[in-house]
This record gives sequence, C-alpha cells and structure tokens, in this order.
Amino acid sequence: MATPFGFHGSDITKEGEQPMGSELELDGSLRLLELGDGIIYASALHLAAELKVADLLADGPLSAAELAGPTGTHAPSLHRLLRTLAGCGVFTQDSTGRFALTEAGERLRSDHPLSVRTTVAQQGRLTARTFQYAEHALRTGEGTFAKAFGQPVWEYLKDHPEEGADFDTAMHEHSRVELAAIVQAYDFAGAGRIVDVGGGDGTLLVTVLGGNPGATGVLFDLPHVVERNRVEDAGLQDRVEVVGGDIFGDIPAGGDLYTMKSVLHGWTDNEVVTILGGIRKALKPGGTLLLIERVIPAGNAPHPSKAFDLAMLIMAGGQERTQQEYVALLTEAGFRVDRIIGTESSLSIVEARPTDDAV
Ligand SMILES: C[S@@+](CC[C@H](N)C(=O)[O-])C[C@H]1O[C@@H](n2cnc3c(N)ncnc32)[C@H](O)[C@@H]1O
Repeated sequence: MATPFGFHGSDITKEGEQPMGSELELDGSLRLLELGDGIIYASALHLAAELKVADLLADGPLSAAELAGPTGTHAPSLHRLLRTLAGCGVFTQDSTGRFALTEAGERLRSDHPLSVRTTVAQQGRLTARTFQYAEHALRTGEGTFAKAFGQPVWEYLKDHPEEGADFDTAMHEHSRVELAAIVQAYDFAGAGRIVDVGGGDGTLLVTVLGGNPGATGVLFDLPHVVERNRVEDAGLQDRVEVVGGDIFGDIPAGGDLYTMKSVLHGWTDNEVVTILGGIRKALKPGGTLLLIERVIPAGNAPHPSKAFDLAMLIMAGGQERTQQEYVALLTEAGFRVDRIIGTESSLSIVEARPTDDAV
C-alpha cells in the first residue's frame, strides 16, 4: 500500500501469498509506521528549504548533478533526498532523472507570494533541535528551547539577529496564509485606533489598516523586533505609531481595539493573566480585545491546534487552549467573552470586553 508519506512491506507481497495478520491489524501497524516515518520526510523537507533547492528549480527542471554545485552537496545523496520528496508531492522526477517543482513545491521558492521557505528551514534549525529534549518537557511540563540553545527563545532570537529576522519572516509567512481568513471573518470597519500587541513586523496591522482607511494603529513588540517593521514599506507610517516595549510592562494606552495574534500561546496561565491585566488597564472604556489563536476543539477530530499545543509546550512551556480555558483566563483578568468566531484558517478569534463595561 502506498501512503502519502511512505511505502511499506505489504505492497511487495508476492502474488498468491497472504500478508501476515488481518487487514485491520496491518492498517493499524502501517499507520503507526507512517507516523513514525514522519521524521524522515520532515527532515528531507527542512534540508531542501535550507538549501534553497526550489529557487534553483525556478527556471526549469535540473538533475541532482546540476544542483549539487550550487547547493554544496554530494550529487548522489542529493538525488536520494529529492527522490524522497518527489514521492510526496514536493517535486516531480522526469524520465531523464531531472527534478521539477510541483504546485506545492513552488511555495518553497523564496520569491513566491505565498512562500513558506523560511518557516520550513527554521523548523529544521530550531524546532527539530529543540524536539530532541521533548522527553524533558513531558516529564516536567517545562519548555526546552533553553536546553537546546542555552537561553530562552526570545533572548536567543535577540542575540542572533539573523535567526531573529528569519523568525519574523516565518511569522509573516504564516500570517500571509492566515490573514485573508481573519479579515473575512471579522469586520474591522469603525475599529478606530488598533493596538497590535506582540505584533511582530506589523503584518496583521498593515493588512487590517489597508482595508480600513479610517483606522489608525500602534505596532507594539520588543524594541529590536519593531525595528524590522513593514509599516513604511506599506506606506502607512502616517497612520501607525511604532512602539518598542515589554508586554509585561506598560502596554500603549488609549486604543479602541487591542489585537494579539499567536502571542498568548507562548506563555503560561499566570503569565497570560498578567498580560491580559496590562491590556485591561490600557484599554479605553467601551474598547474591545481580540485574541487570534488556535482554539482546541472538543473531541477526537484532527485539528492543527493539537499538534501546535504540543509544540508550544516543548518549545516554550506554552500551550494552545480550549474555549473554556480562554473564557476562564479572560474572566480572571476582568474580561467577558462576547463571541468566539471560527475562520477558514486554523485560527479562531476570541472577542472580549471588560466585564464592567455595559453589555
Ligand atoms: C509567535 S510571535 C507572533 C507575532 C505576530 N503577532 C504574528 O502573529 O505574526 C510572538 C511575538 O511576541 C513577541 N514578544 C515576545 N516576548 C515579548 C515581550 N516580552 N514583549 C513584547 N513582545 C514580545 C515576539 O517578539 C513575537 O513577535
């Protein structure tokens, strides 16, 4: 049986020969083998992204021998890596042995408008290495980034500016594929002054202001992060104030709408209540808070939030949360939840207002 990931022994059973075990038993075994093999495909993809193979294939198919020079690799080994990825829809291999990009493979090109190359390459450098310490997280509930890299994630990214800039780009890549769904699901018209807390390079703010000419914004993140903002490139410097600071310190006051996307999942419950308390103080009367996060659905249905939740534990000691968990934390910090809005992406929007505002 060929699987999206792999190919296991039952395919090569000789004619007339019975495979061992019932079909049901085999399916279960194959499923587990396929899940375990995931590391092979993930590692191959990380390396292809790191080596920028897709950029080299932008003008047409090339063989591993032709790609070996520019990627600094051993041609026969590169061939094996590309053949592996051709088996799962990233490249195709033609009858001459040359490799070309599939539609998905195109998105590994650095210049594709929906590129995820930087994210995938960084998964190989940061996530894969941190996951070697997953057992420690499981036994203690602590994040393990510092075990792998010697310092907590935000300090490491500050002290390694190239990796930090790649992290911002990775967030931008995520946002590019998520933001259409966010602005479709939530009406930002009449938002007034929007403060994006932990707003990274400003991708969310730039997108929302781009569609709402009457709104203004404040981009708030760590000082060295907001330095790398995209506000000027978007021609929005007259409508956006860029503020560097700490979410555990003074959050810029006086906004009508506070947004936080993919921020709270990096922090423990106690830290989240502190951050929310700061926003509660900064928010104007009648103001609104939007949390944009992966809310974990009930039941067994597969959902990216479940894997992200495990990743947040291992990387940062953080977590994705259920609706009930968000309601409990927001209530503790003095907010009431008015709506939780699903989007076409894996993110949901939790809309909250101060408890003491009139309903
Ligand atoms: C996962 S990123 C999300 C970025 C952005 N909201 C997005 O969705 O693309 C988390 C952000 O929190 C910021 N951050 C982490 N610690 C912070 C702190 N103490 N004060 C302010 N921002 C912080 C990081 O710099 C980063 O930009």
